[in-house]
Amino acid sequence: MSETARIILNGQEHEFPVVTGSENEKAIDISKLRGSTGYITLDPGFKNTGSTQSGITYLDGENGILRYRGYAIEDLAEKASFMEVAYLLIYGDLPNEKELSYFNDSITHHTLVHENMKRFFDAFPLRAHPMGMLSSMVASLSTFYPESQNPNRDITDIDLTIHRLVAKIPTLAAQAYKHNMGLPTMYPKNNLSYVGNFMHMMWGVPAEDYVVDPIIESALNKLFILHADHEQNCSTSTVRIVGSSQANLYSSISAGVSALWGPLHGGANQAVIEMLETIRAEGTPLQSWIDRAKDKSDSFRLMGFGHRVYKNFDPRARIIKKAADDVLAQLGVDDPVLDIAKQLEEVALNDEYFVQRGLYPNVDFYSGIIYRALGIPTDMFTVMFALGRLPGWIGQWKEMSENREPIGRPRQVFTGSPARDYADIKNR
Ligand code: CMC
Repeated sequence: MSETARIILNGQEHEFPVVTGSENEKAIDISKLRGSTGYITLDPGFKNTGSTQSGITYLDGENGILRYRGYAIEDLAEKASFMEVAYLLIYGDLPNEKELSYFNDSITHHTLVHENMKRFFDAFPLRAHPMGMLSSMVASLSTFYPESQNPNRDITDIDLTIHRLVAKIPTLAAQAYKHNMGLPTMYPKNNLSYVGNFMHMMWGVPAEDYVVDPIIESALNKLFILHADHEQNCSTSTVRIVGSSQANLYSSISAGVSALWGPLHGGANQAVIEMLETIRAEGTPLQSWIDRAKDKSDSFRLMGFGHRVYKNFDPRARIIKKAADDVLAQLGVDDPVLDIAKQLEEVALNDEYFVQRGLYPNVDFYSGIIYRALGIPTDMFTVMFALGRLPGWIGQWKEMSENREPIGRPRQVFTGSPARDYADIKNR
């Protein structure tokens, strides 16, 4: 017998189906609730609300499990290339040799951006935040490729748009970096890997042949994979909801970049390093920072701690912590901020406040330390997150679109003023 849930309202019983996911996750399907009862549910921040049924990423917050299309994040981070993972998230399966070769080839041949876009960069002030530049540039791609605006979503146009976006985002990110450094932009090099080409555009200079350092290439490959998808988080939900109005892919992803920018989401990686640097500069005991984070009258939070779904540990943070140790050792970098991070983690994990609330270091806690060691400026950290997250956003947008999901449009409980008469300005 299929499971159902009953809601009793004013003595009347209403029955709703229970949906069971492939990992036995349970949800009460209340899509007909308002029609049959006149009531809606209220769930600010969607803490208990499933917005979709998705086959992309499985996440078990209690047990620290994260899988992309069934593959464990640990395996992918260890063995796969970022392009394989991008293909997996976008198209549903790991590519065979032929599929990967076609995908790589297509991506490689779309890496150039229209020369007119350089003029947009020229117009940005020096030290413009790169996330603001990236979001604007991604949205503006839709103006150069009007076929992306076709709401009927011809499959060939969608594929071309997807390949262009994956190909061009590293070029745009590197251009944003070069703009702020006052350095000439570098054109992509087609004989390099996706990550290697990004490194060349970031750190190459016209006068010299840039040599890709395999340690850095491998670290970035891993970081991109670890960030590639995370089911219905804030930016992904944004991408799906914007796309549900049949807005084009570029605009939907641009909205995702903006949502990611906030310090409670992807912007936390920048905020973590700024916090650790402040702690180091002030030299005050770590306990005083912990006490501030616990004090409800103080807005300070320990950045890089806590997660909406992980309440025991974040599997990505485990891998990144080890990667940070490895990268610093391999590059011979001694970063005192890493020591502060480790001490802070130790103090917090033994503090009852953090233990009771299940607040553990998240993916952003250690990623900034690696980015710093690689010479990436702090305000570029969230851009690095966006580069990694892109295939996930695309896969989620594509799934929403293929399933013909309805336009996203939550309800509300109105708490404002009842109807009143318009008052003349002199009588207010
Ligand atoms: N420092 C101090 N207290 C915290 C923190 C923190 N970092 N995070 C949560 N709490 C407390 C919070 O005050 C609340 O306490 P109480 O129950 O006494 O009111 C309790 O823990 C639950 O917090 P919440 O804000 O209701 O939890 P949430 O699920 O709404 O928020 C979060 C999750 C990630 C926004 C939050 O933990 C946070 O602000 N962390 C710092 C920012 C951060 O590192 N963000 C990156 C998230 S991982 C990257 C990504 O995927 O976005």
